[in-house]
Amino acid sequence: MKAKAVKMADGVYWVGVIHWHSRTFHGYGIPGTTYNAYLVFGEEKTVLIDNVYRGMFEQFDARVKDAFEQEGKDFKIDVFVQNHSEMDHSTFLRDTIAKYNPDAEIYASQNCINFLEAQYHNFGDLEINAVATGDELDIGGRTLKFISAPMLHWPDSMFTLLAEEGILFSNDAFGQHVAHSKRFDEFYDTEYLLREAQKYYANLVTLGSPMLRMKLDELTNSGLLEQIKMIAPCHGQIWKNPAPIVEKYSEWGSGVCKDKITVIFDTMHHSTEKLAYQIAEGIMSEGVEVAMYFMQEDGPDDVITDILDSKAIALGAPTMMNKPFPRIGNMMYWLDCVNFKGTGSEKSALIFSSKGWGGGAIAKLQNDLEAAGFTVTDTLDVLFVPDEDVLAEAFEKGAELARSIKE
Ligand code: FEO
Repeated sequence: MKAKAVKMADGVYWVGVIHWHSRTFHGYGIPGTTYNAYLVFGEEKTVLIDNVYRGMFEQFDARVKDAFEQEGKDFKIDVFVQNHSEMDHSTFLRDTIAKYNPDAEIYASQNCINFLEAQYHNFGDLEINAVATGDELDIGGRTLKFISAPMLHWPDSMFTLLAEEGILFSNDAFGQHVAHSKRFDEFYDTEYLLREAQKYYANLVTLGSPMLRMKLDELTNSGLLEQIKMIAPCHGQIWKNPAPIVEKYSEWGSGVCKDKITVIFDTMHHSTEKLAYQIAEGIMSEGVEVAMYFMQEDGPDDVITDILDSKAIALGAPTMMNKPFPRIGNMMYWLDCVNFKGTGSEKSALIFSSKGWGGGAIAKLQNDLEAAGFTVTDTLDVLFVPDEDVLAEAFEKGAELARSIKE
């Protein structure tokens, strides 16, 4: 197989792979993705940073060879840096070491070393150097600085800064799941990339928001943040202009939200649907943005994306057998899992339901939402089909929720 490496700076290459047809990544929908790996040529040592996912070795290996050919150097990797152990970035690490230099130096966080062995059970015979913030590696005229980044997004996550060039190899942090032919942010609309990055953050990084805030403070106070000229994550486009994504991470990680309400509903005989529509109209009547999701068609990953920067949600499910219609459950588990509490945002919630007789959905949803960090400020429990009076009440509850979040 032939594949070209992409030059990012003198002696620095993207040698990752494009997974054009991937449509799901451990549970959430994506329009394809990339697994980014990088080769850095120093005067004394050549370094591979990160690796790629299963089924992708030939494309990766072809790009590695092309980078060596572009540099006119022998095919030998002196140093392997593994920023994170999850399989999409490590499947072929062992094979690459065996192929390019079984005696290479290897660097990773201690957690990464432990996790590699626990996943592959064949790293125990390798000597891997544990590194953390403050450790550096001279590769000949160039310096790699290691920066521990636990929970961004796994306990083993680490950044590596190529100091002289100001290139931050950030692994999953600052990534986006997209698959494009060009590698840099400058070729694509910034708003589009930030939306994909928001989906990525919401679903994969939200839980680590307290650690993100600490890390951004640490990078700022140490002066490293201003040295970063380019951010090269392990998925998606490389940020030649890091300012927009750093600003967004700062906002998302600290709970900055818009005047926006995400309305989420499921329905059996269109009654809860009618309530959702009227609540949305009430919200819009106050000039507040609405994101609307129907859980028979939409994925929880997209819902989570919009909840991240919403000040409130309106959640509706019919009552079935004294409980919420169970199809809403997948989304509720995701909400509980990502845990928006860590961002510091205080999100309120309106819960609504159509019931036949005894009810029960609202109590269960309220309990689960409060456990996930939401403050339930209002409910609407409706008997069978809402009449005009009830629809007017739903409209007013939507408007009241909107007024309550407006600055
Ligand atoms: Fe893209 Fe945590 O792996």
